[in-house]
Amino acid sequence: MHTELLKSDDASILRAAECIKSGGVVAFPTETVYGLGANGLNPAAVHAVFAAKERPADNPLILHISRLEEAEPLCFLTEDAKILAKAFWPGPLTMLLKKKPIVPDATTAGLETVAIRMPKHPIAQKLISACALPIAAPSANRSGRPSPTTAQHVLDDMAGRIDFILDGGPCEVGVESTVLDMSGSVPTIYRPGAVTPEQISMVIGECKVADNIMKDIPKDAYAPSPGMRHKHYAPKAEMLLVNGKPEKTAEFIKSNYREGDYILAMQGNIYLYEGYPVASLGEDAKQAAHRLFYLLRETDKLGAKRILSETLPYDGLGLAVMNRLARAAAFRIIEADK
Ligand code: TXA
Ligand code: MG
Repeated sequence: MHTELLKSDDASILRAAECIKSGGVVAFPTETVYGLGANGLNPAAVHAVFAAKERPADNPLILHISRLEEAEPLCFLTEDAKILAKAFWPGPLTMLLKKKPIVPDATTAGLETVAIRMPKHPIAQKLISACALPIAAPSANRSGRPSPTTAQHVLDDMAGRIDFILDGGPCEVGVESTVLDMSGSVPTIYRPGAVTPEQISMVIGECKVADNIMKDIPKDAYAPSPGMRHKHYAPKAEMLLVNGKPEKTAEFIKSNYREGDYILAMQGNIYLYEGYPVASLGEDAKQAAHRLFYLLRETDKLGAKRILSETLPYDGLGLAVMNRLARAAAFRIIEADK
């Protein structure tokens, strides 16, 4: 199969929509990361997505919609879910809700809930409208790899495996949507993203963050969201996180530096690493989120053996960045001050 990279004009979006309607798989940009889209109501099309990604069948997909009315046939929308939809859709929030029978088990991996999100990216919106279907779309990376934030990243992972990639340039947010479980008694975040716990609490009051955001779930133990259990975001290089004051962190990293290491540091601390191979995570958590997956893929291309990274404060988007970094590092964080 030849994978065609398409400029995202209206004609290409219509071609991509025809492909999805007839059971095919198309990669498309969203404001978070690129998605691998198929007809979410067609089990055969959904299986093709799992196959292209080599994704374990027990890890469910998100259904993408372009208008709130499209959620009604798919799930039971609670009052709080409607309030959150008003506040954050279109945008990087995915809600887990009790599913209706029309949603196939292939999409939800047999779970009673379905993940629903309304992306903000205009190309994603046009594509969903043109299909007039809920599009099941996981991130468009090969399973376990960092999510793709450019069309080239998708091509690197998916060439020969899918029909089309719609090129919409780099994704604005850079990390995947917030996954919020709205099916239990207290709204709970299973995956932090650009819609923060603070923002959700402001709108509906209580919002919990699952405790395994920053720690590993033992193999075979229960995970409220299957994605928590799977190896994720991993660059090929070994990843090491170092926490502490910037000077102490830099001292630690430099004294443990080996040939083949690459360093990730916040822009304000780059000067501490003069003479070492260091890349900037940017000025703040927002820029770090935008660059993170790009940097993980680039350091791989450079043949990095290890990536040594600073940590970020856990608030706002920092929580999402730290969750991805910690998972890439298999949750090992070294304290520089000790
Ligand atoms: O930003 C995003 O969410 C991107 C773009 C393409 O929209 N999509 C994305 O999908 O990141 P994916 O499949 O890579 O991540 C979806 C996560 C997985 O961790 C999965 O386990 C979880 O959501 N999930 C999906 N449905 C679920 C359900 N019914 N119950 C619990 N977790 C669910
Ligand atoms: Mg993913």
